[in-house]
Amino acid sequence: MSRLGLTDPEREARLLSRIIETISAGLDLGEIVQGVAALITETTETDICFVHLLDDTGRRLVLRGATPPFDELSGQIELDLGEGVAGWVAAHGRPVVIDDDKLADPRYKYIPELRGEDFTSMCSVPIAARPGHLVGVLNVHTRVHRVFTYADVELLHSVGGLIAGTIENARLHGLLAEREEAMERFAERVVLAQEAERRRLAGEIHDGISQRIVSLSYHLSAALDALAPETPPPGGGRTVTDLRVAAEQIGRARALADDALRETRSAIEGLRPPVLDDLGLPASLASLARSFPSLAVEADLVPLRLPGHVETAIYRVAQEALSNVAKHSGAGSALISLAVRSGNVELEIEDDGVGFDPSRLAERPAPTGYGLGGMRERAELLGGRLEVHSRRGAGTLLRVVIPVRDLA
Ligand SMILES: Nc1ncnc2c1ncn2[C@@H]1O[C@H](COP(=O)(O)OP(=O)(O)O)[C@@H](O)[C@H]1O
Ligand SMILES: [Mg+2]
Repeated sequence: MSRLGLTDPEREARLLSRIIETISAGLDLGEIVQGVAALITETTETDICFVHLLDDTGRRLVLRGATPPFDELSGQIELDLGEGVAGWVAAHGRPVVIDDDKLADPRYKYIPELRGEDFTSMCSVPIAARPGHLVGVLNVHTRVHRVFTYADVELLHSVGGLIAGTIENARLHGLLAEREEAMERFAERVVLAQEAERRRLAGEIHDGISQRIVSLSYHLSAALDALAPETPPPGGGRTVTDLRVAAEQIGRARALADDALRETRSAIEGLRPPVLDDLGLPASLASLARSFPSLAVEADLVPLRLPGHVETAIYRVAQEALSNVAKHSGAGSALISLAVRSGNVELEIEDDGVGFDPSRLAERPAPTGYGLGGMRERAELLGGRLEVHSRRGAGTLLRVVIPVRDLA
């Protein structure tokens, strides 16, 4: 039995001060845990140290740090509360010492990767900043037999208490960083969506509307030229042919003006369907439902008003979903419903057509604004989600769930 305990006061002081040094160094969680494991074995004459931390659910322990060579298993060993010695310590909040013959202890669980057969004695203590506030479990093992005294256990417990707050902070810090990153990605996607919308609008103005106006102006010039040529023909007066040419040119110009007007309307409609302003969302959806000649769409829509951008998004999704039903499903009828359930607006479009395998589309890049990818994007930009339930031969149910705080 080794006499080199954890309880040598000098060692103890050195361990605690070096641990404080490690945790104040502001490293990331993995580095802190790894550093602490190394310090503990080094200072306490134990052979290995495992640090198991509770995961975000608080229901499972995950190995987050260990002395080499077990550091390579970090993230790979998981235990439920109550499973194995560490799980038992986590569930009960009390330390466990097993001096010998671990296999005989009902709490012990043999995990081949951790090579329990190479080690004889072990001590396992909760890592908790205060009682009942468990962060994880710290285990030390020795190759040779060792009696862990009450003072040893107390010291390990203090180490656990010292690192608990830091671990908790590092975890919170990680969560915050993750959230910040998600916000950044979100902002980026908003900008991309805006850019795509601007490009679409610019394209429609450039390729459609301004081209029409250019030709319109050309036809008007031709008409003008026929009626009042810059160099009048000898004899002056306009012939019947001139008048016919002018009339024809003006006729073409008018047709182009009509086209330009139609295209302007549709470009604006691309921004916000005017029907929404006139009728509100439920009536607009009802009118949309009636606009597919080959499809009998039953509508079940609660009366409600939502912020303009949410209405636009829902309308667009319904529009695309119903055209998908008409285009792809082969169904003769469909159902559209709009409802409010536990703080969410839910839009559902259901058909009993041919169905498809949504997982095969998952990787398809989504051109912003269109198709299933565009629908998902619209829903996610509003903090919601798109669900596609479909199977070949079993129809399709598409559901968009969007959280809305104040339902007007
Ligand atoms: N209601 C539906 N019934 C059957 N297949 C569908 C339905 N909706 C979508 N799909 C399938 O999913 C594919 C992707 O749809 P979408 O992203 O809207 O692109 P697009 O309509 O341009 O093909 C469609 O090509 C079709 O195969
Ligand atoms: Mg489509």
